[in-house]
Amino acid sequence: MVALFMVTVPAWGGPPRQHCLSCHSAHYEEKGKCSDCHLGNPAAGRKNIAHAGVRAGKYCRFTLGNAVQKREGEQLIEQLSCRRCHITTGRGNRLAVSLDTAAAHKTAAELALSIRRPVENMPNFVLNEELITIVVNAIYAGSLKHKTDVETPVQVHFTPSVSKEPDVFSVKCGRCHRVLSRRLGAVGTGTIGPNLSGLFSDYYPKTFKDGEAWTVRNLDVWLKNPRKIRPWSEMMPVTLTAAEMKELMEILSAR
Ligand code: HEC
Ligand code: HEC
Ligand code: HEC
Ligand code: HEC
Repeated sequence: MVALFMVTVPAWGGPPRQHCLSCHSAHYEEKGKCSDCHLGNPAAGRKNIAHAGVRAGKYCRFTLGNAVQKREGEQLIEQLSCRRCHITTGRGNRLAVSLDTAAAHKTAAELALSIRRPVENMPNFVLNEELITIVVNAIYAGSLKHKTDVETPVQVHFTPSVSKEPDVFSVKCGRCHRVLSRRLGAVGTGTIGPNLSGLFSDYYPKTFKDGEAWTVRNLDVWLKNPRKIRPWSEMMPVTLTAAEMKELMEILSAR
Protein backbone atom coordinates (compact mmCIF):
# COMPACT_ATOMS: atom_id res chain seq x y z
CA MET A 1 0.00 0.00 0.00
CA VAL A 2 2.76 2.37 0.93
CA ALA A 3 4.45 1.66 -2.39
CA LEU A 4 1.30 2.48 -4.33
CA PHE A 5 0.97 5.78 -2.51
CA MET A 6 4.56 6.76 -3.26
CA VAL A 7 4.48 6.24 -7.05
CA THR A 8 1.56 8.65 -7.37
CA VAL A 9 2.83 12.02 -8.54
CA PRO A 10 1.11 14.76 -6.54
CA ALA A 11 -0.85 17.36 -8.59
CA TRP A 12 1.56 20.11 -7.49
CA GLY A 13 4.52 18.41 -9.05
CA GLY A 14 6.17 17.09 -5.94
CA PRO A 15 9.20 14.83 -5.87
CA PRO A 16 10.02 12.92 -9.06
CA ARG A 17 8.44 9.51 -9.46
CA GLN A 18 10.38 6.64 -7.97
CA HIS A 19 9.85 4.08 -10.68
CA CYS A 20 11.80 1.55 -8.67
CA LEU A 21 8.64 1.16 -6.67
CA SER A 22 6.57 0.11 -9.65
CA CYS A 23 8.49 -3.16 -9.62
CA HIS A 24 9.91 -3.44 -6.11
CA SER A 25 8.41 -3.08 -2.70
CA ALA A 26 9.90 -0.48 -0.39
CA HIS A 27 12.28 -1.11 2.48
CA TYR A 28 14.51 1.06 4.70
CA GLU A 29 12.20 3.95 3.75
CA GLU A 30 13.12 5.81 6.92
CA LYS A 31 16.77 5.83 5.76
CA GLY A 32 16.26 7.38 2.35
CA LYS A 33 15.25 6.80 -1.25
CA CYS A 34 16.09 3.64 -3.19
CA SER A 35 18.77 5.40 -5.19
CA ASP A 36 20.40 6.94 -2.09
CA CYS A 37 21.66 3.45 -1.35
CA HIS A 38 21.32 1.47 -4.58
CA LEU A 39 22.08 4.25 -7.07
CA GLY A 40 20.45 3.43 -10.43
CA ASN A 41 18.06 5.78 -12.23
CA PRO A 42 14.77 6.23 -10.35
CA ALA A 43 13.28 8.40 -13.13
CA ALA A 44 13.32 5.50 -15.61
CA GLY A 45 10.51 2.99 -15.90
CA ARG A 46 12.37 0.51 -18.08
CA LYS A 47 14.33 -1.99 -16.06
CA ASN A 48 17.60 -1.88 -17.97
CA ILE A 49 17.73 1.93 -17.78
CA ALA A 50 16.57 2.06 -14.16
CA HIS A 51 19.27 -0.45 -13.31
CA ALA A 52 22.15 1.38 -15.00
CA GLY A 53 24.91 1.37 -12.36
CA VAL A 54 22.60 -0.15 -9.76
CA ARG A 55 24.33 -1.36 -6.61
CA ALA A 56 23.24 -4.79 -5.36
CA GLY A 57 22.02 -4.99 -1.78
CA LYS A 58 25.10 -6.75 -0.43
CA TYR A 59 27.27 -3.79 -1.46
CA CYS A 60 24.85 -1.37 0.28
CA ARG A 61 25.39 -2.82 3.74
CA PHE A 62 27.67 0.07 4.64
CA THR A 63 24.69 2.44 4.41
CA LEU A 64 23.14 0.80 7.45
CA GLY A 65 25.93 2.06 9.72
CA ASN A 66 26.56 -1.21 11.56
CA ALA A 67 29.64 -0.54 13.70
CA VAL A 68 30.77 -4.18 13.89
CA GLN A 69 30.67 -4.59 10.11
CA LYS A 70 32.45 -1.30 9.67
CA ARG A 71 35.27 -2.35 11.97
CA GLU A 72 35.53 -5.72 10.25
CA GLY A 73 36.02 -4.00 6.90
CA GLU A 74 38.61 -1.58 8.21
CA GLN A 75 40.56 -4.42 9.80
CA LEU A 76 40.59 -6.39 6.57
CA ILE A 77 41.93 -3.44 4.58
CA GLU A 78 44.59 -2.97 7.24
CA GLN A 79 45.53 -6.64 7.35
CA LEU A 80 45.82 -6.94 3.57
CA SER A 81 47.78 -3.66 3.41
CA CYS A 82 45.83 -2.21 0.51
CA ARG A 83 47.23 1.18 1.56
CA ARG A 84 50.76 0.28 0.52
CA CYS A 85 49.50 1.08 -3.02
CA HIS A 86 46.11 2.80 -2.67
CA ILE A 87 44.62 5.66 -0.75
CA THR A 88 41.44 4.73 1.09
CA THR A 89 39.74 6.80 3.81
CA GLY A 90 42.10 9.59 2.78
CA ARG A 91 45.22 7.63 3.81
CA GLY A 92 47.74 5.54 1.91
CA ASN A 93 50.39 5.62 -0.79
CA ARG A 94 49.62 7.02 -4.22
CA LEU A 95 51.23 4.20 -6.16
CA ALA A 96 47.93 3.10 -7.73
CA VAL A 97 44.56 4.80 -8.21
CA SER A 98 42.85 6.15 -5.09
CA LEU A 99 40.05 3.86 -3.90
CA ASP A 100 38.19 6.91 -2.58
CA THR A 101 38.06 8.15 -6.17
CA ALA A 102 37.36 4.68 -7.62
CA ALA A 103 34.31 4.37 -5.33
CA ALA A 104 32.79 7.37 -7.07
CA HIS A 105 33.53 6.29 -10.63
CA LYS A 106 33.25 2.51 -10.69
CA THR A 107 30.24 0.29 -10.04
CA ALA A 108 30.27 -2.08 -7.08
CA ALA A 109 30.44 -5.00 -9.51
CA GLU A 110 33.53 -3.45 -11.14
CA LEU A 111 35.24 -2.86 -7.78
CA ALA A 112 34.52 -6.45 -6.74
CA LEU A 113 35.85 -7.76 -10.06
CA SER A 114 39.06 -5.75 -9.68
CA ILE A 115 39.70 -7.55 -6.40
CA ARG A 116 38.56 -10.96 -7.62
CA ARG A 117 40.66 -10.77 -10.79
CA PRO A 118 43.32 -8.14 -10.12
CA VAL A 119 45.45 -6.48 -12.75
CA GLU A 120 48.97 -7.76 -13.22
CA ASN A 121 50.55 -5.40 -10.72
CA MET A 122 48.05 -5.87 -7.93
CA PRO A 123 48.52 -8.97 -5.78
CA ASN A 124 45.78 -11.60 -5.92
CA PHE A 125 44.52 -11.86 -2.37
CA VAL A 126 42.38 -14.90 -3.22
CA LEU A 127 39.48 -13.65 -1.09
CA ASN A 128 36.17 -15.47 -1.00
CA GLU A 129 33.01 -13.60 -2.07
CA GLU A 130 32.00 -12.70 1.46
CA LEU A 131 35.39 -11.11 2.17
CA ILE A 132 35.27 -9.25 -1.18
CA THR A 133 31.83 -7.94 -0.19
CA ILE A 134 33.18 -6.74 3.15
CA VAL A 135 36.13 -5.00 1.44
CA VAL A 136 33.91 -3.29 -1.16
CA ASN A 137 31.62 -2.04 1.60
CA ALA A 138 34.69 -0.75 3.44
CA ILE A 139 35.84 1.11 0.30
CA TYR A 140 32.43 2.79 0.06
CA ALA A 141 32.29 3.57 3.76
CA GLY A 142 35.80 5.04 3.56
CA SER A 143 34.96 7.19 0.56
CA LEU A 144 31.97 8.86 2.22
CA LYS A 145 34.07 11.50 3.94
CA HIS A 146 36.83 11.66 1.37
CA LYS A 147 35.31 11.64 -2.09
CA THR A 148 35.30 15.40 -2.34
CA ASP A 149 38.97 15.75 -1.40
CA VAL A 150 40.96 17.60 -4.00
CA GLU A 151 43.83 15.33 -4.82
CA THR A 152 46.99 15.89 -6.73
CA PRO A 153 46.70 13.60 -9.73
CA VAL A 154 48.32 10.22 -9.45
CA GLN A 155 51.36 9.94 -11.66
CA VAL A 156 51.96 6.30 -12.33
CA HIS A 157 53.61 5.08 -15.48
CA PHE A 158 52.92 1.44 -16.04
CA THR A 159 55.18 0.87 -18.97
CA PRO A 160 58.61 -0.33 -17.89
CA SER A 161 61.35 2.22 -18.17
CA VAL A 162 62.96 2.49 -21.57
CA SER A 163 66.23 3.95 -20.35
CA LYS A 164 69.37 2.49 -21.93
CA GLU A 165 70.59 1.02 -18.68
CA PRO A 166 68.17 -1.45 -17.09
CA ASP A 167 67.37 -0.36 -13.52
CA VAL A 168 68.85 -2.21 -10.56
CA PHE A 169 65.50 -3.61 -9.43
CA SER A 170 64.86 -5.28 -12.79
CA VAL A 171 68.33 -6.77 -12.81
CA LYS A 172 68.72 -7.89 -9.20
CA CYS A 173 65.18 -8.41 -7.86
CA GLY A 174 62.69 -8.32 -10.72
CA ARG A 175 62.96 -11.99 -11.58
CA CYS A 176 61.25 -12.80 -8.27
CA HIS A 177 59.55 -9.56 -7.17
CA ARG A 178 57.43 -6.71 -8.52
CA VAL A 179 57.18 -3.14 -7.28
CA LEU A 180 55.22 -0.02 -8.16
CA SER A 181 57.64 2.86 -8.20
CA ARG A 182 56.79 6.55 -8.36
CA ARG A 183 59.78 7.02 -10.58
CA LEU A 184 59.64 4.03 -12.92
CA GLY A 185 56.08 2.72 -12.71
CA ALA A 186 55.70 -1.04 -12.60
CA VAL A 187 59.05 -2.82 -12.39
CA GLY A 188 59.86 -6.50 -12.15
CA THR A 189 57.96 -9.53 -13.40
CA GLY A 190 58.44 -12.12 -10.66
CA THR A 191 55.77 -13.50 -8.38
CA ILE A 192 57.62 -16.00 -6.18
CA GLY A 193 58.63 -13.21 -3.76
CA PRO A 194 56.20 -10.66 -2.28
CA ASN A 195 55.22 -7.50 -4.17
CA LEU A 196 57.48 -4.89 -2.54
CA SER A 197 55.40 -1.76 -3.27
CA GLY A 198 55.58 0.80 -0.48
CA LEU A 199 58.18 -1.29 1.42
CA PHE A 200 59.50 1.62 3.51
CA SER A 201 56.14 3.27 4.11
CA ASP A 202 53.92 2.99 7.19
CA TYR A 203 51.49 0.86 5.18
CA TYR A 204 53.72 -2.11 4.37
CA PRO A 205 53.34 -5.06 6.78
CA LYS A 206 55.92 -4.96 9.56
CA THR A 207 57.47 -8.26 8.56
CA PHE A 208 61.19 -7.64 8.98
CA LYS A 209 61.37 -9.45 12.31
CA ASP A 210 59.52 -9.28 15.61
CA GLY A 211 57.02 -6.77 14.23
CA GLU A 212 59.78 -4.43 13.02
CA ALA A 213 59.19 -2.30 9.93
CA TRP A 214 61.38 -2.40 6.83
CA THR A 215 63.91 0.41 6.94
CA VAL A 216 66.89 1.06 4.68
CA ARG A 217 69.15 -0.46 7.34
CA ASN A 218 66.99 -3.53 7.83
CA LEU A 219 66.84 -4.12 4.08
CA ASP A 220 70.62 -3.89 3.95
CA VAL A 221 70.90 -6.57 6.65
CA TRP A 222 68.31 -8.70 4.83
CA LEU A 223 70.00 -8.55 1.44
CA LYS A 224 73.36 -9.58 2.91
CA ASN A 225 71.83 -12.78 4.31
CA PRO A 226 68.06 -13.37 4.43
CA ARG A 227 68.55 -16.61 6.37
CA LYS A 228 70.06 -14.71 9.26
CA ILE A 229 66.60 -13.13 9.71
CA ARG A 230 64.45 -16.05 8.56
CA PRO A 231 66.26 -19.38 8.79
CA TRP A 232 63.81 -20.89 6.28
CA SER A 233 63.99 -18.04 3.77
CA GLU A 234 64.04 -19.05 0.12
CA MET A 235 65.76 -15.84 -0.90
CA MET A 236 69.50 -15.96 -1.60
CA PRO A 237 71.83 -13.14 -0.50
CA VAL A 238 72.12 -10.31 -3.04
CA THR A 239 75.28 -8.27 -3.35
CA LEU A 240 74.92 -4.62 -4.34
CA THR A 241 77.43 -1.80 -4.76
CA ALA A 242 76.78 1.41 -2.82
CA ALA A 243 75.56 3.08 -6.01
CA GLU A 244 73.17 0.21 -6.76
CA MET A 245 71.87 0.33 -3.18
CA LYS A 246 71.17 4.05 -3.56
CA GLU A 247 69.28 3.51 -6.81
CA LEU A 248 67.32 0.64 -5.25
CA MET A 249 66.23 2.86 -2.34
CA GLU A 250 64.94 5.46 -4.77
CA ILE A 251 62.94 2.86 -6.68
CA LEU A 252 61.48 1.39 -3.49
CA SER A 253 60.50 4.79 -2.08
CA ALA A 254 56.74 5.38 -2.28
CA ARG A 255 57.18 9.16 -2.58
C1 HEC B 1 10.53 -2.53 -14.65
C2 HEC B 1 10.74 -3.13 -13.36
C3 HEC B 1 11.91 -2.67 -12.53
C4 HEC B 1 12.29 -1.38 -12.24
C5 HEC B 1 11.68 -0.06 -12.75
C6 HEC B 1 13.39 -1.48 -11.31
N1 HEC B 1 13.69 -2.80 -11.06
FE1 HEC B 1 15.12 -3.53 -9.85
N2 HEC B 1 14.77 -5.42 -10.44
C7 HEC B 1 13.69 -5.79 -11.25
C8 HEC B 1 13.75 -7.24 -11.42
C9 HEC B 1 12.76 -8.06 -12.22
C10 HEC B 1 14.88 -7.72 -10.70
C11 HEC B 1 15.36 -9.17 -10.57
C12 HEC B 1 16.72 -9.38 -11.22
C13 HEC B 1 16.77 -8.93 -12.65
O1 HEC B 1 15.98 -9.41 -13.47
O2 HEC B 1 17.61 -8.05 -12.96
C14 HEC B 1 15.48 -6.54 -10.10
C15 HEC B 1 16.64 -6.57 -9.32
C16 HEC B 1 17.06 -5.49 -8.57
C17 HEC B 1 18.15 -5.52 -7.63
C18 HEC B 1 19.04 -6.71 -7.34
C19 HEC B 1 20.21 -6.60 -8.29
C20 HEC B 1 21.28 -7.62 -8.09
O3 HEC B 1 22.32 -7.45 -8.74
O4 HEC B 1 21.10 -8.57 -7.33
C21 HEC B 1 18.26 -4.28 -7.09
C22 HEC B 1 19.28 -3.82 -6.04
C23 HEC B 1 17.27 -3.47 -7.71
N3 HEC B 1 16.57 -4.21 -8.62
C24 HEC B 1 17.09 -2.13 -7.40
C25 HEC B 1 16.32 -1.27 -8.18
C26 HEC B 1 16.30 0.16 -8.02
C27 HEC B 1 17.11 0.94 -6.99
C28 HEC B 1 15.44 0.65 -8.96
C29 HEC B 1 15.12 2.12 -9.25
C30 HEC B 1 16.29 2.97 -9.51
C31 HEC B 1 14.92 -0.48 -9.71
N4 HEC B 1 15.47 -1.63 -9.20
C32 HEC B 1 14.02 -0.39 -10.74
C33 HEC B 1 12.76 -4.95 -11.79
C34 HEC B 1 12.81 -3.55 -11.78
C1 HEC C 1 19.51 2.60 3.56
C2 HEC C 1 19.87 1.95 2.33
C3 HEC C 1 18.79 1.28 1.50
C4 HEC C 1 17.67 1.88 0.95
C5 HEC C 1 17.14 3.30 1.16
C6 HEC C 1 17.06 0.87 0.12
N1 HEC C 1 17.78 -0.29 0.18
FE1 HEC C 1 17.40 -1.99 -0.87
N2 HEC C 1 18.85 -2.96 0.18
C7 HEC C 1 19.71 -2.36 1.06
C8 HEC C 1 20.55 -3.38 1.65
C9 HEC C 1 21.65 -3.15 2.68
C10 HEC C 1 20.15 -4.60 1.07
C11 HEC C 1 20.75 -5.98 1.36
C12 HEC C 1 19.84 -6.79 2.21
C13 HEC C 1 19.64 -6.19 3.58
O1 HEC C 1 20.60 -6.07 4.33
O2 HEC C 1 18.49 -5.83 3.88
C14 HEC C 1 19.09 -4.30 0.14
C15 HEC C 1 18.44 -5.24 -0.65
C16 HEC C 1 17.58 -4.91 -1.69
C17 HEC C 1 17.04 -5.83 -2.68
C18 HEC C 1 17.28 -7.33 -2.74
C19 HEC C 1 18.24 -7.69 -3.83
C20 HEC C 1 19.67 -7.42 -3.46
O3 HEC C 1 20.38 -6.83 -4.29
O4 HEC C 1 20.09 -7.74 -2.33
C21 HEC C 1 16.27 -5.10 -3.55
C22 HEC C 1 15.54 -5.59 -4.79
C23 HEC C 1 16.27 -3.74 -3.07
N3 HEC C 1 17.07 -3.66 -1.93
C24 HEC C 1 15.58 -2.71 -3.64
C25 HEC C 1 15.37 -1.48 -3.04
C26 HEC C 1 14.40 -0.50 -3.49
C27 HEC C 1 13.49 -0.65 -4.68
C28 HEC C 1 14.47 0.55 -2.62
C29 HEC C 1 13.61 1.82 -2.59
C30 HEC C 1 12.25 1.55 -2.18
C31 HEC C 1 15.50 0.25 -1.65
N4 HEC C 1 16.01 -1.00 -1.92
C32 HEC C 1 15.91 1.08 -0.64
C33 HEC C 1 19.79 -1.02 1.37
C34 HEC C 1 18.84 -0.09 1.02
C1 HEC D 1 51.06 -3.73 -5.00
C2 HEC D 1 50.11 -2.69 -5.19
C3 HEC D 1 48.65 -2.97 -4.89
C4 HEC D 1 48.10 -3.45 -3.73
C5 HEC D 1 48.80 -3.89 -2.47
C6 HEC D 1 46.67 -3.42 -3.93
N1 HEC D 1 46.37 -2.95 -5.19
FE1 HEC D 1 44.52 -2.61 -5.93
N2 HEC D 1 45.32 -2.00 -7.69
C7 HEC D 1 46.67 -1.91 -7.97
C8 HEC D 1 46.84 -1.49 -9.34
C9 HEC D 1 48.16 -1.27 -10.06
C10 HEC D 1 45.54 -1.29 -9.88
C11 HEC D 1 45.13 -0.87 -11.29
C12 HEC D 1 44.71 0.57 -11.28
C13 HEC D 1 45.89 1.49 -11.37
O1 HEC D 1 46.63 1.36 -12.34
O2 HEC D 1 46.11 2.30 -10.47
C14 HEC D 1 44.62 -1.62 -8.80
C15 HEC D 1 43.25 -1.52 -8.92
C16 HEC D 1 42.37 -1.73 -7.89
C17 HEC D 1 40.94 -1.52 -7.98
C18 HEC D 1 40.19 -1.00 -9.20
C19 HEC D 1 40.18 0.51 -9.16
C20 HEC D 1 39.63 1.14 -10.39
O3 HEC D 1 39.48 2.38 -10.42
O4 HEC D 1 39.35 0.42 -11.35
C21 HEC D 1 40.40 -1.85 -6.78
C22 HEC D 1 38.94 -1.79 -6.37
C23 HEC D 1 41.49 -2.27 -5.92
N3 HEC D 1 42.68 -2.18 -6.64
C24 HEC D 1 41.35 -2.68 -4.63
C25 HEC D 1 42.38 -3.11 -3.83
C26 HEC D 1 42.19 -3.62 -2.48
C27 HEC D 1 40.86 -3.73 -1.78
C28 HEC D 1 43.43 -3.95 -2.02
C29 HEC D 1 43.77 -4.61 -0.71
C30 HEC D 1 43.05 -5.86 -0.46
C31 HEC D 1 44.39 -3.64 -3.07
N4 HEC D 1 43.72 -3.15 -4.15
C32 HEC D 1 45.76 -3.81 -2.97
C33 HEC D 1 47.70 -2.17 -7.08
C34 HEC D 1 47.56 -2.66 -5.80
C1 HEC E 1 65.67 -15.60 -6.85
C2 HEC E 1 64.51 -14.92 -6.29
C3 HEC E 1 64.72 -13.65 -5.50
C4 HEC E 1 65.50 -12.56 -5.82
C5 HEC E 1 66.43 -12.37 -7.00
C6 HEC E 1 65.24 -11.58 -4.79
N1 HEC E 1 64.34 -12.06 -3.89
FE1 HEC E 1 63.58 -11.10 -2.30
N2 HEC E 1 62.47 -12.72 -1.80
C7 HEC E 1 62.37 -13.87 -2.55
C8 HEC E 1 61.44 -14.78 -1.92
C9 HEC E 1 61.05 -16.13 -2.44
C10 HEC E 1 60.97 -14.12 -0.77
C11 HEC E 1 59.88 -14.70 0.15
C12 HEC E 1 60.14 -14.68 1.60
C13 HEC E 1 61.24 -15.58 2.11
O1 HEC E 1 61.45 -16.68 1.59
O2 HEC E 1 61.90 -15.15 3.05
C14 HEC E 1 61.64 -12.83 -0.71
C15 HEC E 1 61.48 -11.89 0.28
C16 HEC E 1 61.97 -10.60 0.23
C17 HEC E 1 61.68 -9.59 1.21
C18 HEC E 1 60.81 -9.75 2.44
C19 HEC E 1 59.46 -9.14 2.20
C20 HEC E 1 58.42 -9.49 3.20
O3 HEC E 1 57.41 -8.79 3.27
O4 HEC E 1 58.57 -10.49 3.91
C21 HEC E 1 62.33 -8.45 0.82
C22 HEC E 1 62.31 -7.10 1.53
C23 HEC E 1 63.02 -8.77 -0.40
N3 HEC E 1 62.78 -10.08 -0.72
C24 HEC E 1 63.78 -7.86 -1.11
C25 HEC E 1 64.49 -8.18 -2.25
C26 HEC E 1 65.25 -7.21 -3.01
C27 HEC E 1 65.32 -5.72 -2.71
C28 HEC E 1 65.83 -7.90 -4.02
C29 HEC E 1 66.78 -7.36 -5.06
C30 HEC E 1 67.90 -6.58 -4.57
C31 HEC E 1 65.43 -9.29 -3.92
N4 HEC E 1 64.60 -9.41 -2.83
C32 HEC E 1 65.81 -10.31 -4.76
C33 HEC E 1 63.07 -14.14 -3.68
C34 HEC E 1 63.98 -13.31 -4.30
